[in-house]
Amino acid sequence: MTRATLIRLVAAMLVLTAVISVVMLQIDWNGVAGSTEADDVDTLLDVMIVLSAFVYSIVLVMLGYSIWRYRAKPGDESDGEPIHGNTRIEIAWTLIPTVIVLFGAAYSWFILDKIEAREADRLEVDVTAQQFAWHFEYPEENVTSTVLHVPVDRQAEFSLEALDVIHSFWVPEWRVKKDAVPGQPTSMVATPDREGNFELICTELCGVGHSTMRAPVIVESPEEFDKWIQDQGGKPGGGGAAAGGAENTLAAEGKQIFDAQGCSGCHTLKAAGATETIGPDLDEVLPGKDPDFIRTSIVDPDAELAPGFQQGIMPDNFGDALSPEELDTLVKFLSQSTQGEK
Ligand code: CUA
Repeated sequence: MTRATLIRLVAAMLVLTAVISVVMLQIDWNGVAGSTEADDVDTLLDVMIVLSAFVYSIVLVMLGYSIWRYRAKPGDESDGEPIHGNTRIEIAWTLIPTVIVLFGAAYSWFILDKIEAREADRLEVDVTAQQFAWHFEYPEENVTSTVLHVPVDRQAEFSLEALDVIHSFWVPEWRVKKDAVPGQPTSMVATPDREGNFELICTELCGVGHSTMRAPVIVESPEEFDKWIQDQGGKPGGGGAAAGGAENTLAAEGKQIFDAQGCSGCHTLKAAGATETIGPDLDEVLPGKDPDFIRTSIVDPDAELAPGFQQGIMPDNFGDALSPEELDTLVKFLSQSTQGEK
């Protein structure tokens, strides 16, 4: 190969790299970006796309050149020349990929380090995942919720816990995701920089209701967030004071336990505003049943199954997860809220 040919091949590779990169970078791979981490992650993806385009171009150009230059002439039945290696080419094809891979690794490391850095004024949110619901607790503000509220432009740290199997915390607009693993607390941070309604998606196959294991995410101004905390009976900015003076009726307490334990992730119950259909519709199956039946159905769900439902779907650990008082409250709540319905 002459020097002029080599220059032409390298030029072809660079032009092809540019063309492929321009086309690939037009595509909106990740959708709307809604956090400061998203910008870094998207830039990283763009750089990787250009690098991949370069590697792909080297392969394509050399393949095309070889097919054109070394094809067999018509009537040529002779064998090819025996070849004994080429030290310079071997060094090149070892060195170039090594440099590309090391660069990719170093750059990714740099980005990961940057987006995982904890800020001092971050909001703490404890996230509990279970089949098939999310539950959020704001320890500083003393609030629990099944909707994830976060203020805009403030870092939030999500401490993840799974009660049964592995789940995974993912808000696509924030880009970052992390698994929630039973018995092994993990945490991740995100700094939402776009207000609006988003969705938290479980992104680890966790059972029959995996695809419905979602929770609303509301990113709002700090003022709106503080107001929401107050409306929940919490204390904005932390301090941990309990809801003072608010009368906790059976309905409110029962609904709170119903949400917190994830019941609303699977069941329909008008009194709790729950509309899921993975498990039996409680407004249909509970009327006419006594409290003992309800209690048994919670702690030993396979003892008697509603028609059309299989055993082993509902977790059988609620007897351990609930305190005796919570179980009493939940049974009373379910009993009262369904016996009136006809
Ligand atoms: Cu939880 Cu998928």
